[in-house]
Amino acid sequence: MTVSTLTIRRPDDWHLHLRDGDMLRAVLPASASQYGRAIVMPNLRTPVTTAEAAVAYRERIESALPRNAAFRPMMTCYLCDTTDPAEVRAGFDGGAFAAAKLYPAGATTHAEYGVTSVDRIAGVLAVMQEIGMPLLVHGESTDPTVDVFDREANFLRTTLTQILASYPRLKVVLEHITTEEAADFVMRDASGRLAATITPQHLMFNRNAMFSGGIRPHYYCLPVLKREHHRQALRRAATSGSPAFFLGTDSAPHDTGAKESACGCAGIFSAPVALQAYLTVFEEERALHRFEAFASENGANFYGVPPNRQTMTFHRTPMQVTGHIDLPDGRRLQPFLAGETLPWSLASFSQEIAS
Ligand code: NCD
Ligand code: ZN
Repeated sequence: MTVSTLTIRRPDDWHLHLRDGDMLRAVLPASASQYGRAIVMPNLRTPVTTAEAAVAYRERIESALPRNAAFRPMMTCYLCDTTDPAEVRAGFDGGAFAAAKLYPAGATTHAEYGVTSVDRIAGVLAVMQEIGMPLLVHGESTDPTVDVFDREANFLRTTLTQILASYPRLKVVLEHITTEEAADFVMRDASGRLAATITPQHLMFNRNAMFSGGIRPHYYCLPVLKREHHRQALRRAATSGSPAFFLGTDSAPHDTGAKESACGCAGIFSAPVALQAYLTVFEEERALHRFEAFASENGANFYGVPPNRQTMTFHRTPMQVTGHIDLPDGRRLQPFLAGETLPWSLASFSQEIAS
């Protein structure tokens, strides 16, 4: 039987890049109109490394919000070798930080100030374990001799295993997983303190998408798309019903000039269409009944916040994805799946429901 409407609790985006300035104002409405909350990544050009910087960034986001938006940005601390454990503790206790992000130095966009060795942040990780503050991990090895398609699996063996063993009560989210190894790793951990986010692009495409008929920069993100069997493993994990997997779009806007370049930036701007893309995947996997847990419950439970009280309803009415968004200075943004048609549209929100 084909379902024609679907109502779920309002979802949250547990991995989002909002940028700053004109870019922030251009991309924020897509997230704020759909999600209740988002974990906002701290990899600005000047990274968000202090509680004061996180509060100032949150205020810039809040002042860019559309009127009446019910959207709460949850801020993260960018960890460096020199991060002070006392700053992390005070920022978490005072509500400036919801989590901290571990970028191995150089792993991705604006990761040059990241951590060169986990030993350097031992004091920070001990505090985070003590206070129950989640560690969000960009799980890729930065050893240049490791093949780019093997960097995630290598990181699991060399670094993540070590972090989990050294800090047995630390809450960890392995962000934007892309491999069968990562899905299995998270699935096998029964402790409840390890989780993973999964993006729409890694559920919908394998690495062929980057090379179909020519090089396709709008399918390039990090971690890079992988082989088909990895995509299949991610689809099984997302739709498995396991509470360890939840929605994190990794929507990461770069203007078309920066994408379509001799050295193009990594990142896919999926915010306008991610929910409808996930929904398409869950329907193809005959798992629509598990979509609400993935999108709206598992992440909130992991972060220890109540699920959103509004509901949102989707209709099976085809939606065409915007071709591009203009920035005030003439630059453009091309969203994920630009110009394509997806089977589901967002129809409406309810008023508050009883929790
Ligand atoms: C992200 C960005 O552009 O900030 N890019 C990406 O390809 N995902 C950084 C990140 O999450 O790795
Ligand atoms: Zn990201």
